[in-house]
Amino acid sequence: MGFFPIHDVMHPHREYAGVSSLIRPPGAKAGHGSINGPAPTPAPRPPAAAPAQALHVLRRDGLWPTLWKATRLLSRRVLRREDLVFFANDVADVPHELPAALRGFRFVLADASNIGAFRNDLVTDFRLDPATIDQRIAAGKEAMLALHQGRVVAIVWLAFETQTVDEIGMKLRLLPGEYLTFDAVTLHAWRGRGLSRALNLLADNHVASRGIVQHLAWRSASNTAALRVADKLGQRRIASATATWVLGRMVHRRVVSLNRRGSDTVSCLMGL
Ligand SMILES: CC(C)(COP(=O)(O)OP(=O)(O)OC[C@H]1O[C@@H](n2cnc3c(N)ncnc32)[C@H](O)[C@@H]1OP(=O)(O)O)[C@@H](O)C(=O)NCCC(=O)NCCS
Repeated sequence: MGFFPIHDVMHPHREYAGVSSLIRPPGAKAGHGSINGPAPTPAPRPPAAAPAQALHVLRRDGLWPTLWKATRLLSRRVLRREDLVFFANDVADVPHELPAALRGFRFVLADASNIGAFRNDLVTDFRLDPATIDQRIAAGKEAMLALHQGRVVAIVWLAFETQTVDEIGMKLRLLPGEYLTFDAVTLHAWRGRGLSRALNLLADNHVASRGIVQHLAWRSASNTAALRVADKLGQRRIASATATWVLGRMVHRRVVSLNRRGSDTVSCLMGL
């Protein structure tokens, strides 16, 4: 399998204006988010209604898997246990190349300067609430995006300060030199092609120039695909956490550091 350098898809001149750090194809202008050049900010399309979404899942997965999913969702409202694993890697250690198979994708960093160009896709295809997108961007968060034929097909969010870990009802304060990725999603049809790994590598390459040295992330201990991505990135397990919720109230929580690196992270976790 061949590779190509990450610098082929990252802007070579780093003409960033503030946080306007768009990874754009040659010829595109700074400050305009579309890979096809300057883009207007269209009004977002509303996400598919819940019944339409359910029908889509029913058609895609069949009757029994859909019923099983629905039952699990309902029972999680009554009793749910969250098992998380926290990961870290040194930003400097990651590869600077991507598999040649990903050459057909465009990779773009979305921030306050260009998020409007991607809002439609994030609302419609990723079912993100427009207010959530705005809050994240206003809080200085960024999103690394993979695009295919102009549509967003995969995303990972980047945070540079404090981030809520909803699953365990805590906040994680980041130390100087750390950043965090969260809410990684690859659209169903595009999974298993290495896009999530690529977005994480691009994110590490991107933040390295800001003096960031550590990449943190957490994943559900039962999310095999997400754990595999961590594995492929060479991330170390540094801490684990469990929380039990009954009817929306947390009744038990335990956070454990797995090594010295993890104890720094655990000491930065605060109750909400
Ligand atoms: C987790 C997720 C983002 C990964 O995206 P992706 O673009 O498919 O990731 P990659 O292709 O880089 O890697 C996925 C790896 O998991 C493997 N994988 C997928 N499903 C798997 C499963 N059920 N069991 C084991 N491995 C699995 C893939 O084969 C691939 O590994 P490989 O490259 O060795 O073959 C995607 O599955 C997703 O959007 N899931 C739903 C949202 C989610 O759970 N997000 C995680 C939040 S932290």
